[in-house]
Amino acid sequence: MQTATPRKVEHQQTDRGYVPVYATGVVEQPWSSYTRTDHEVWDTLFKRQCELLPGRACQEFLDGVAKFGLGDGGIPKFAEINQVLASATGWELVAVEGLLPDEVFFDHLANRRFPVSWWIRKPEQLDYLSEPDLFHDLFGHVPLLLNPVFADYMQAYGRGGMKAHAIGPEALMNLTRLYWYTVEFGLIDTPQGMRIYGAGIVSSKGESIYSLDSDAPNRIGFDLARVMNTRYRIDTYQQTYFVIDSFEQLFEATRPDFTPIYARLRQSRPHAAADVLDASDRIYHCGSREGFAANADT
Ligand SMILES: [Fe+2]
Repeated sequence: MQTATPRKVEHQQTDRGYVPVYATGVVEQPWSSYTRTDHEVWDTLFKRQCELLPGRACQEFLDGVAKFGLGDGGIPKFAEINQVLASATGWELVAVEGLLPDEVFFDHLANRRFPVSWWIRKPEQLDYLSEPDLFHDLFGHVPLLLNPVFADYMQAYGRGGMKAHAIGPEALMNLTRLYWYTVEFGLIDTPQGMRIYGAGIVSSKGESIYSLDSDAPNRIGFDLARVMNTRYRIDTYQQTYFVIDSFEQLFEATRPDFTPIYARLRQSRPHAAADVLDASDRIYHCGSREGFAANADT
């Protein structure tokens, strides 16, 4: 079993600060090299989130976790997950060393491949990590790839990313905000109540509670151009969460060509992460802003 030697190509700002970006691309999941501690970290995080998420995460996510058998004990094998995934929606996990350059990441998504960091955090990092690890990528992102509509959305996002990359950095920033506020930090309004679907939330104990229960952040109805024009926070929990009605709404909203939207947004100033637009926002909850630091948006 070989592991690739990571080669840093640049640093990238993420929700946890500046992290190295690697050019190693796809590796084989070195499953036999996981230590007992690694497996215990997975089991601890898995158990903790599974106790917390029923009634908080959307049913599609919980169904996905159950169908993959992610809690069978120890770190799952990607090859076994891929068997389930391939027959359900045609997606495939690929193991990677870490964050990838944008165009490489988009190309994977556009071809229904989801890159998953193969390594897992240390026991002392259960609540804080500077770059996405296996638990975030696998537990957070992969269960929803079993949902056909969400699976199509992710592929469409990859195709949109390749286009935005060709248009320029501003378009890419607009598209990055869309990923941030949906795939990573999205909420969904269901007949049973507000639920989480974003991977950044479901993989975090603290934000799984904060995103739904705290008075501090705004919860605002999803609007494509609004989301693309809203800055975000990488150093704290979010100041605004955008709420979709359904995955169909998300997929339909992102079906048109974004080129004219990018052009329009170039003419306007971005909104701050904590802004509420009284005239146009569909407001579920206007946040108290308690504890918000000013001027730290990305
Ligand atoms: Fe993520």
